[in-house]
Amino acid sequence: MKEVEIKKYYNKKINEIKKHNKLYFDKSSPQVSDKEYDRIKKEILDLEKKYSYLKSTSSPSHSLGFAPSKNFIKSNHRVKMLSLSNAFDKNDLENFEKKIFNYLNKKVEIEYSVEPKIDGISASLTYKDGLLVLGTSRGDGVIGEVITENLKTISDIPQEISNKDFPKDIDIRGEVFITKSNFSNLKNIFANPRNAASGSLRQKNSEQTRKIPLNFVAYTYGYFESKVIKKQSEFLSSLKKWGFKTSEYNKVLKTINELESFHKKFEKDRFDLEYDIDGLVYKINNLELQKRLGFTANSPRWAIAHKFSADSAYSKIIDINIQVGRTGALTPVARIKPVNIGGVVVSNATLHNEDEIIRKDIRLGDTVKVERAGDVIPHVVLVDLKKREKNSKKFIFPKKCPCGFETIKEYNKTTKKYDAVRRCPDRGFDCEKIAVEKIKHFISKEALNIDGLGKKVVEKFWDLKLIRFPQDIFNLDYEQISNLEGWGDLSVSNLKYSIDKSKNVSLDRFLYSIGIRHIGIENAKLLAEYTKSIKNFLNFIKNKKLNDFLNIDGIGETQINSLKKFFENKSNYKIIENLSSLLNISDLKINKNGKLSNNTFMFTGKLTNMSRAEAKSLIEKNSGSVVSSVNKKLKYLIIGEKPTNRKVEQAKGLGIKILSQKEWLSLLD
Ligand code: IVH
Repeated sequence: MKEVEIKKYYNKKINEIKKHNKLYFDKSSPQVSDKEYDRIKKEILDLEKKYSYLKSTSSPSHSLGFAPSKNFIKSNHRVKMLSLSNAFDKNDLENFEKKIFNYLNKKVEIEYSVEPKIDGISASLTYKDGLLVLGTSRGDGVIGEVITENLKTISDIPQEISNKDFPKDIDIRGEVFITKSNFSNLKNIFANPRNAASGSLRQKNSEQTRKIPLNFVAYTYGYFESKVIKKQSEFLSSLKKWGFKTSEYNKVLKTINELESFHKKFEKDRFDLEYDIDGLVYKINNLELQKRLGFTANSPRWAIAHKFSADSAYSKIIDINIQVGRTGALTPVARIKPVNIGGVVVSNATLHNEDEIIRKDIRLGDTVKVERAGDVIPHVVLVDLKKREKNSKKFIFPKKCPCGFETIKEYNKTTKKYDAVRRCPDRGFDCEKIAVEKIKHFISKEALNIDGLGKKVVEKFWDLKLIRFPQDIFNLDYEQISNLEGWGDLSVSNLKYSIDKSKNVSLDRFLYSIGIRHIGIENAKLLAEYTKSIKNFLNFIKNKKLNDFLNIDGIGETQINSLKKFFENKSNYKIIENLSSLLNISDLKINKNGKLSNNTFMFTGKLTNMSRAEAKSLIEKNSGSVVSSVNKKLKYLIIGEKPTNRKVEQAKGLGIKILSQKEWLSLLD
């Protein structure tokens, strides 16, 4: 499909999801099943992954999928619903306390009400004469949305309170949330429990809210006047007495050191709780003092939220699985009890390799610290030995690949050490685990770039035995595929189109797509430039002339040995031969009109942050060429660290321009 058509198709899907969102969230009368809704959503997300130019603010990757507040009547909060300022470390806590002493102009003994900060949606409940008369969301803190009927569906919220000491007029405030186990049924629709609670609470039809089980924990008040209750901890006890749920972890502490150690402990235990907590709230316990301290523009001076780390969390290892990569590397992956790290629910964390497991002595059932920062995949950082179960045993890394082959650890001649990574010796497509990864590599963006065939589809086709080798992709039975669940006429024709399109491939991409270890994109380019055509390349193999590739600047023993090993396997050779007859493999396209056209370059000395091979390919990509001796044909000599003086002198003598790496790169902008 062409770009315009893809965009058109994408927009059509976006409109579909918008329609279903409206039906579900505004009109509360969904027309499609959850499964069908998920399918459309997934199709949109897959398209966005494949084509980076596809963007829409209505995409499920942007929105939570529920309608804005225009659905609800608004109501002014009698007392503003403010937020809390955050503390991340001891220093922040000390500053918080210091500010309080400054404001009061003296050092007083402080008692704190310590409460878990449940990561949900706050709500305010107005009771008059013991009856729940109004329920609102926080809104912008000043004006909330009236969601009384929705809140009434939550069984934790009492609708009538008959206790004699229950205030005649009071706003009770607290958090609406969903438990982790209830969230697990909704994890395909919402990114985390908080979004799920929010989505459910803001349904236009309260009957829809009722379907998603919500909970409520009370922790403060809005409008309220009392002469009897003097402390926040007393208010919390009263809430309980009046029939509200309060947190069982609420407690009173005095010093910053006590707060710190409680926080540390709680941070380690939180994964075991039935709901998400993103920190602890510390409130000055004395209500009189709270009143004196008052508020700044957005938050109270008398309370602070001590947040948990947004990029790490503790959790428990439930299982350890071994994943096999394209080059046969065995990667252990810990399945952990799901834990929310900075808004993302994490349930898998890599353990890197066998040596890492041994070094950190990671065992099944261990409580571990998992880090998830930026784009790095979640990984296990350390084991909390204090929490180790008594009978736990060392994890024995399997010596066999899941395919049944014995695994090996390679000896590295340079470092004179065995590799940390255990591998299934690459026996081509004989190892099923490697084979499926090889096919995923074959279709990937930098390789054949088959749009309609994502990794998940490869896995599905593999399971259905539709593909075993890369060449099977070009002999798919499309009629059979169109009968599979989730495959409509359009998706089949998309698939066919992108497979047909991928048949025209340049030699370098093709050599890369084969997935030979140590032959990445750059090395594949070098090989393509040297061999010029697939026929030539295969001749080098057939005539056992692989050592000739040592003449290529950038190709060394490692690459040659890897190529030899790959082609020693006769079936590998057959696959390549087979593919070369199915595909139209063109020579490497050389751009003749680039910024460096008609310019020749030579390097001397070590380059910074760049290999010679990369520098060479950069020049060639921009239509320049690299020569290997100083002569009149040379236009620029690029000098890196510790250049060969003789070459520099020679160049100077011939009037050749000398460039530093920086000057050379500036020619390319
Ligand atoms: S007290 C003026 N107590 O945290 C202070 N808030 O950033 C009002 N939260 O919007 C809040 N647990 O959604 C308070 N025990 C707790 C809390 C809590 C969670 C949430 C609440 C609020 C946000 C403040």
